[in-house]
Amino acid sequence: MYYSDDVVQEVRSRNDIVDVISSYVKLQRKGSSYFGLCPFHNEKSPSFSVSPAKQMYYCFGCGAGGNVFTFIMEYENYTFPEAIKMLADRAGISLPQQEYSEEARRQRDLKSAVLDINKTAAKYYYYILHSGQGELGMRYLKDRKLSDDTIRHFGLGYAGQYSDALYRYMKKQGISDQLLKESGLFQVSEKRGMYDKFWNRVMFPIMDVNNKVIGFGGRVMGDAKPKYLNSPETVIFDKSRNLYGLNFARTAKKNYLLVCEGYMDVISLHQAGFTNAVASLGTALTSQHASLLKRYTDEVILTYDSDEAGVRAALRAVPILKEAGISTRVLHMEPYKDPDEFIKALGTEAFQERIDHAENSFLFELSVMQKSYDMKDPDSKTRFFQAVAAKIAEFELEIERENYIEAVTGRFGISFEGLRRMVMNVLMQGVPVRKEPVRPQAKTEKDDGIRKSQRLILTWLSEYPKLFPEISAYIAPEDFSDELYREVASMLYEQLEKGELNPARIINHFTDADEQRTVAQLFNTAIPIENPKEQEKAIAETVRKVMDYGIKQRTRRLDPSDIRGLQELIEAKRKLEELDRLHISL
Ligand code: CTP
Ligand code: MN
Repeated sequence: MYYSDDVVQEVRSRNDIVDVISSYVKLQRKGSSYFGLCPFHNEKSPSFSVSPAKQMYYCFGCGAGGNVFTFIMEYENYTFPEAIKMLADRAGISLPQQEYSEEARRQRDLKSAVLDINKTAAKYYYYILHSGQGELGMRYLKDRKLSDDTIRHFGLGYAGQYSDALYRYMKKQGISDQLLKESGLFQVSEKRGMYDKFWNRVMFPIMDVNNKVIGFGGRVMGDAKPKYLNSPETVIFDKSRNLYGLNFARTAKKNYLLVCEGYMDVISLHQAGFTNAVASLGTALTSQHASLLKRYTDEVILTYDSDEAGVRAALRAVPILKEAGISTRVLHMEPYKDPDEFIKALGTEAFQERIDHAENSFLFELSVMQKSYDMKDPDSKTRFFQAVAAKIAEFELEIERENYIEAVTGRFGISFEGLRRMVMNVLMQGVPVRKEPVRPQAKTEKDDGIRKSQRLILTWLSEYPKLFPEISAYIAPEDFSDELYREVASMLYEQLEKGELNPARIINHFTDADEQRTVAQLFNTAIPIENPKEQEKAIAETVRKVMDYGIKQRTRRLDPSDIRGLQELIEAKRKLEELDRLHISL
């Protein structure tokens, strides 16, 4: 935080969030909140809510959320100091000068300097590609059937034959070696001094969602190795948090995104009109990628390469996406290797057909599993179906299980009743017949349930502060599962103890946009509750769950010599038992 807490609060309190957001989004009052079309993702019916009481916004569609600062930062693509400056101006507050800490200013300056260097490099490579020196590169791209439009759209470029051309160009602009080193675009050797990381390669600038160049991939034009060279991670480039092509795909008006492996896949897909394609760059899909995707879509179609590595990558990606709340289908590329080859060979319509027939990820997992069984051998076949039954038994809802039993029946030739009985057997034994190591997900699903309960508690406390005495008698901030949840809970408890509820203020303790979003979500978790009786039940049930989890967590952490901790634990368990008598209503 660069400004003192007081200044930040002053600016925030003088900028009512409904006022501010109204000048960007058309809002309509519904009950105690305002609703409008979310400016952070494409939608037709409003799921973007703004709460005057909490001074926060939250989108139930894409999970964007935060306070008035977060909104301005996300919408205008401002840094925090820029946002606070704008809002201070808006409210006629003059900010104190020079409140940056030395370190904060250094980081900010470094980031923007490295962004500048990347931008300059992108322009330079682009210029070289279109100059006489770029002939080879241009020929290569044309051979790969890229149009001029596509080359321009993606800002493709060329690093020519000299291994220090970019370095000399940068030096002419007077940029220091120290800064150039930070950009990752240069290398240093004792003998040669500093020189370019990329030469003799066609260049793919990598942009973040705000169209800022944060790094490059460079491809050799022949078969030399390595085929692609990428910028290393820098202060602005984090591979596990960026997806190639997302800056364009985010505004494609489709309700799913295509996730593929490579630069060329994304580019050919976009050229063919599939502008909703993105790629993770030479890394396996991470959970950060998944939450980034979740901001824009609920469904992903994996269009990974058809080779073994691609299948493995898909098997790994499915549970990661599922955990982020994304449902996944898997596209069959055979007999082609990747989307680029497929489109070149069979064209757009055929690819669209494959999209339409992309396979449900669960059935895809089963097909992969089936390959390790000999379906002509009765014993092996039985074992396969037992394994299938065990996997189906992992679904919590009966209707889900039935739907999958039905799908499997049609696909793998087993009778509905037969498979249903096998699933029932698994469920009754309580332990899976034979667990396949395809996806380690049962645990995270449970965890997600508990997190949701914890979020509900925080949301209720922020909406109905009068619940605080009752809830805090049973649940302490330490009972929450994640570091972030615990931090938020203890700040909220502190506010409630002082009678100064102010959720928007809590958000400002977090500087990372992802964290701010999560915090906003903590205060915006809702379950539809019909009548007061059910409400009461839901609250008691939620309190019980969170408490129970907290006790288990404390038990695990307890040092056996900690007598006081032990006593507190016993006390907590006693309270848990008396919980049946709890009646709290909203
Ligand atoms: N990749 C990489 N380094 C390599 C090989 C691959 O970083 N040595 C990354 C690149 O982002 C590449 C992706 O992995 O785009 C997929 O690899 P591959 O399928 O080999 O590349 P394609 O995109 O198919 O490349 P091309 O069509 O140009 O051969
Ligand atoms: Mn490929």
